[in-house]
Amino acid sequence: MTAYPAARPRRLRRTPALRRLVADVHVRPSDLVLPVFVKEGICDPQPIASMPGVVQHTRDSLKKAAHEAAEAGVGGLILFGIPTVKDARGSGADDPDGIVQLALQDVVAEVGDDLVVMTDLCLDEYTDHGHCGILLPDGDVDNDATLERYASAAVAQARAGSQVVAPSGMMDGQVRAIREALDGEGFSQIPILAYSAKYASAYYGPFRDAAECAPQFGDRAGYQQDGARSADEGVREALLDVAEGADAVMVKPAGAYLDVVRAVADAVEVPVAAYQVSGEYAMVEAAAAQGWIDRERIILEQLTAIRRAGAGMVLTYWATEAAGWVR
Ligand code: PBG
Repeated sequence: MTAYPAARPRRLRRTPALRRLVADVHVRPSDLVLPVFVKEGICDPQPIASMPGVVQHTRDSLKKAAHEAAEAGVGGLILFGIPTVKDARGSGADDPDGIVQLALQDVVAEVGDDLVVMTDLCLDEYTDHGHCGILLPDGDVDNDATLERYASAAVAQARAGSQVVAPSGMMDGQVRAIREALDGEGFSQIPILAYSAKYASAYYGPFRDAAECAPQFGDRAGYQQDGARSADEGVREALLDVAEGADAVMVKPAGAYLDVVRAVADAVEVPVAAYQVSGEYAMVEAAAAQGWIDRERIILEQLTAIRRAGAGMVLTYWATEAAGWVR
């Protein structure tokens, strides 16, 4: 004899309409941010072998992709530039005539009222050694010399119309340095989306082809986080960034770090983003090309998982396509 009716969780799963009614995790086009690459000195978009479907854009093809994203209702774009000439200090990063600054002006003019145009703020796409900052003679990255370069790049991006700057280099104090520089140049209205909990990850492999920024020696483990530390460290990084003035924080990669997404989302009051990175994209595309998985279902399942873990915004190379599925 049971005092209470037996639990029957299946009742609410019985029909598609019931499932839709009770769903409380949603992927919406406006939550998605499309990362885009623009390369200097090319006449046609260049495919990226390890990221089928993603290209290095020309300025023209980028405008078209930006329009498509806006049409699909995507919430934002984040722009990465690839210059033809790289040097030790990453001069292209703050050159007003550098590719990212020029492409940014195009995109803001085209779609700047329809979606949020963001810029990744780092040096690795611009340095000849491929590291995210200025090097010391021993090959280590000089934290504070790098902050000056980030500050200058932030101002250059803001002048070119960036609507959100997103520092991704994992230097200590980068948010404060960028905030001070932006405020000092009259850009106090420009938000900072900090890549706060960014892990040294093999999942970035294909990106390094896309942005042509593989380190020429060593790796980034001296500045990016170690996945063998508990999620608390990601929370600490996020809280430090908020204290320095970050308006939103990011966890990266997403899929293998959903515990960090959840912990950060519980700990901060600012919006949380998660970046589904190039390796996550490549693995799904590769398996789907073999016919081994249901591509659309897997992509939506992953995006839903990232949202369920607590991310408000999701950076994904599938943003435009996925927005079309969920709108
Ligand atoms: C650094 C940066 C990287 C990514 C975004 N910003 C590469 C890295 O840290 O090595 C990776 C994104 C991806 O893999 O999709 N500027």
